Amino acid sequence: MIIDPKTIPVPIAYQVLTSVVIPRPIGFISSISNAGLVNLAPFSFFNAVCGEPPMVMFAPVNRNPSKDTLINVRETGEFVVNIVSREIAEKMNLTAGDYPYGANEFEIAGLTAAPCEVVRPPRVLESPVNMECKVHQIIEVSSQSWGGHLILGEVVRFHVRDSIIDKDMFVDPDKLHAVARLGGPSYSTTKDRFDMIRPVIDRANWKPRTAGICEDGG
Ligand SMILES: Cc1cc2nc3c(=O)[nH]c(=O)nc-3n(C[C@H](O)[C@H](O)[C@H](O)COP(=O)(O)O)c2cc1C
Repeated sequence: MIIDPKTIPVPIAYQVLTSVVIPRPIGFISSISNAGLVNLAPFSFFNAVCGEPPMVMFAPVNRNPSKDTLINVRETGEFVVNIVSREIAEKMNLTAGDYPYGANEFEIAGLTAAPCEVVRPPRVLESPVNMECKVHQIIEVSSQSWGGHLILGEVVRFHVRDSIIDKDMFVDPDKLHAVARLGGPSYSTTKDRFDMIRPVIDRANWKPRTAGICEDGG
């Protein structure tokens, strides 16, 4: 099937998009208003962007009024990305309800708000990793009703649970136990994994000198 997105209803195009761009990592974003109102919400339009400085992005889709996270992040220029482990997935889901501005989703979901080192918003104590972020840039990508904003943030502190990181700073994915978003109400974990070594290219003929090795026997 070939689909011209302009010929189908916007929600259907959104459904196709979000069921093929999978699995999407989830940025569980805590933020705070200037008046001190704390907010927590998940965003699967989320990823890492670059390494120097370490930078992440997430994207709130438009809503009228704007999503609380966007309001707070615009106001304060700060947010925290909390990683969602399988253990707190149901609690994360509870925070995604359409609560009125000012509702404290930490309390609603029974999650613990712990202080950060550099930024004002609290972090989720039950998350195995928290990344304190300062806004780098907010870009309005589209003002249409299913449009949205891209928020880029520089990570200024990592909090990584000691039991999941080794002395060489490798995080064990089994211990992180992160969940990702699939299409509709579906989620996945990172249990089904395989390794591939990237090819080394021989610059004399631009062919791979070593082939990628698939380490799951496949
Ligand atoms: C797993 C998951 C991922 C989500 N990803 C996004 C997203 O990327 N962008 C978005 O605008 N809303 C997303 N949502 C919906 C928001 O979390 C929801 O609109 C929430 O109420 C926004 O909260 P806020 O108004 O407190 O910022 C997601 C919901 C779930 C459960």
